[in-house]
Amino acid sequence: MPNRRDFYRLGAIALGNLFALAVAVPGVKYLLDPLGKSSGGGEFRTLTRLGRLKVGEPQAFSILSERRDAWVKYPTEPVGSVWLVRQPEGSKEPVVALSAECPHLSCPVPLAPDRKSFLCPCHQANFTLEGARINEVAARGMDRLPVELSGDADPEVRVRFERFQPQSAEKKPLA
Ligand code: FES
Repeated sequence: MPNRRDFYRLGAIALGNLFALAVAVPGVKYLLDPLGKSSGGGEFRTLTRLGRLKVGEPQAFSILSERRDAWVKYPTEPVGSVWLVRQPEGSKEPVVALSAECPHLSCPVPLAPDRKSFLCPCHQANFTLEGARINEVAARGMDRLPVELSGDADPEVRVRFERFQPQSAEKKPLA
């Protein structure tokens, strides 16, 4: 029959095991899944509110991303940029989002000096404000990105940023 001393000894062992378990479980989880959450590639990101965009006046937004490896979380850094172009009232899509990466050879595409089209400075690929090709330099138009609006009175404009292979007539995601 266990005496009082055995009882305390068993209690101490049980308590020690419980403590070891509490420390070990999160550690094992971290080792098995060190990245935890992804850096957010492919998710919708809020860029602005609809009310801050003017019809027909493209605005550029940087896409920022956190980079992590197994042990280090790096500072947030830009991974790309997006043009948002608000469409006239009653349009099927209230906002068009275009990747600012040129589909020809991936240079960043700014507005043309007259602000009525996009003009890539690298090889002069020219696109309408909706991203369609004006000349034949690039094999396809600027890449449209999916947009969703929140349900607020002045909705948030959310865009799913993605990068695509240059020099292809088809829009193929980068591997
Ligand atoms: S990279 Fe834009 S025109 Fe060549």
